[in-house]
Amino acid sequence: MSIERTFIFSPRRADGLPCSKILPDESFQHQPPIKVTIMSYNKVAIAGAGGNVGSAIFKQLYADKYAVTVFTRPGMQSQIPSDVPLVTVDYNDVEALTDALRGQDVFISAINVQRAMGSENVMIDACLRAGVKLFIPSAFSVDFFSEIGQKCAFGLPQHKIAGYARERGQPFIIMTTGPWVELCFVQHAMWGFDVKNRKATIYGDGTTEISGSSFEGVGQAVSAMLRRPEPYINQIVQVSNITFTPNQILAALEKQAGVKYDVQYKPVDDLLKQSEKATDFPSKHYPLMLYTVYAPGGCRWDRTNSDALGLKEGSLEAAIIKAADELTSRQ
Ligand SMILES: NC(=O)c1ccc[n+]([C@@H]2O[C@H](COP(=O)([O-])OP(=O)(O)OC[C@H]3O[C@@H](n4cnc5c(N)ncnc54)[C@H](OP(=O)(O)O)[C@@H]3O)[C@@H](O)[C@H]2O)c1
Repeated sequence: MSIERTFIFSPRRADGLPCSKILPDESFQHQPPIKVTIMSYNKVAIAGAGGNVGSAIFKQLYADKYAVTVFTRPGMQSQIPSDVPLVTVDYNDVEALTDALRGQDVFISAINVQRAMGSENVMIDACLRAGVKLFIPSAFSVDFFSEIGQKCAFGLPQHKIAGYARERGQPFIIMTTGPWVELCFVQHAMWGFDVKNRKATIYGDGTTEISGSSFEGVGQAVSAMLRRPEPYINQIVQVSNITFTPNQILAALEKQAGVKYDVQYKPVDDLLKQSEKATDFPSKHYPLMLYTVYAPGGCRWDRTNSDALGLKEGSLEAAIIKAADELTSRQ
C-alpha cells in the first residue's frame, strides 16, 4: 500500500512577492491554499537481496521500515530476518511472477543481469500485469547513456531495459551509481588495484574525478528515492555519495597496507586499444567499462540528485580501508 502525504503550500502574495516568512495579511484573502499530493511507496519486493548491491539495498529498506518482501529463485537460500516474507519464484515465469507481485508498489531487481539475460523483460511484463507502480532494474552502474558510456554499452541488458520499459508503459527508474568503491577498487584487481600483490595500474595521471558510491550509499539512495519518487520516474538518475580520484584510491590502499604499492601509469587510451584487439565479449567489454570510468568526464556528475535525496558525501578512505581490511583478513 502506498502512502500519500498532503502538503499545503501557501501561494504567492497577490503582489507577486514570495510568501515565505511573510506574515499572513489581506493579500492572501482570495487565494485558497494549494494542495500538493506527494506519493511515496511502502510495499517493496526485491529480487537478488543476497547479492553485493542487493544486500545493501535490502538492509537500508528494512532499517527504514518499508514493508519489504524478498524474492529468490527456486533452490536458493536467503539469509533474511525472520519477520521478512520470502517468496520463491522463477523470474522467467511471467504468470508466477505476476501472482507474487500482486499488491506490491515497487519491484526492485538487484539480480546479476549478465547471468540472467532476458529475465528483466519478464519482470516488466509481470509488473504491468500485477499493477506494480514502479520497477527499478538492476543497473546501479556507470552511465551507459552518456556519450562515453555508450561505447561500452553494446550488448548489455542494462542499456536496453529502459527502452523496453518505455515501450511497454511500465514506470521505471534507472539508477546510475558509478563504480561501487569497495567492489571495484578492492575486490576486483581488473580495475587496476591489486590489493593482494600491492600493485596498481593507474590509467591517466590519477587526477581524474570520478563519481562513485559505497554499497551503503546505493542503499540510502534507493530508500530516499522511494520516499519521493515523482521527479525520477522514467528517468536515468545519476547519484553518487563518494567523489574521488585514482590517486586517492591508491593513497587509501597504501595507508591500509602500511607500504607503498608498485605503481605504473598508462595512457587511458590504452584501454580502447585493448578492447579493439580483443575478440570475445568480456575481453572487449571490460576495457571499455574501465575507459568509461577513467576517461576524464566519463563518470563524473554533479550532486543535484544526491543532494535532493539527502545523500551525504562519504569517505573514500574509510570505505576502502574497511573493505581492504576485510579482504586481507580472509586471505
Ligand atoms: N557499479 C558497479 O560497480 C557494479 C559492479 C558490478 C555489477 N554492477 C551491476 O549491478 C548488478 C548486480 O550486481 P551484483 O554484483 O550485486 O550481483 P551478484 O551479487 O553477482 O548477484 C546478485 C543476485 O543475482 C541473483 N542471481 C545470480 N545468478 C542468477 C541467475 N542466473 N538468474 C537469476 N538470478 C541470479 C542472486 O539472487 P538469488 O539467488 O536470491 O536469486 C544473487 O544474489 C549487475 O547486474 C550490474 O548491472 C555494478
